[in-house]
Amino acid sequence: MRLGVNIDHVATIRQARRIDIPDPVEAAVLAELAGADGITVHLREDRRHIQDRDVRILRQTVKTKLNLELADVPEIVAIALEVKPEDCCVVPERRQEITTEGGLDVRAGIASLGRTVPRLTEGGIRVSLFVAPDPDQIRASADSGAAFVELHTGRYAEARGESARAEALRALGEAVDLARGLGLRVNAGHGLNYVNVRPVAALPEIEELNIGHAIIARAVLVGLDRAVREMKTLMWEARER
Ligand code: PXP
Repeated sequence: MRLGVNIDHVATIRQARRIDIPDPVEAAVLAELAGADGITVHLREDRRHIQDRDVRILRQTVKTKLNLELADVPEIVAIALEVKPEDCCVVPERRQEITTEGGLDVRAGIASLGRTVPRLTEGGIRVSLFVAPDPDQIRASADSGAAFVELHTGRYAEARGESARAEALRALGEAVDLARGLGLRVNAGHGLNYVNVRPVAALPEIEELNIGHAIIARAVLVGLDRAVREMKTLMWEARER
């Protein structure tokens, strides 16, 4: 199972001062040296953290693979087609949100996604749609022609109490099975941390977890190298059991 390290929040710290440190490009190097299998960044329309410059330099420096999260809007799709990351994950974006709040409404957006997904795919980019573990959204994702879904693990991460967590995990497991049955490949992410990652990492057939906030938060205290290594160890141990 691969770990994609989302380094948006390195840029969040830099943008707090609007200067040039800390540099997400340097963070990507350290994350890869510690075992990250991919680097994930979200170029938001409002450019609140990652900047165009970051994406372009990361394209040149990332040695594993670059996963660009983007909204289905012409400006950012055009940048993706020019930069050509290995992967693109289409996410919903709302101006007022603190982070990506929910999954895409693929059914409602199918007219546009039905054009964007093939354009990106024809550009040599593997496309993933960030969706809630909801059967209707997964079926719509398959209809869109996307190769992957990234299952939104937010409801699982926020579940309080044993039974709510078990129920959210069951929904994720069923979503994996449905997606695989429809020929989709499956990633997952959002809200995963050092305490809650194991049961999700143990779900067979999830190929990649994308984790940002928890790793960068831990990195502030223990260093990025240790933060990435500890997360990878937890994921691998979960798979071995
Ligand atoms: N996957 C996607 C599609 C996301 O939008 C995000 C948040 O940027 C993540 C994973 C990572 O979420 P977190 O920062 O909570 O680990």
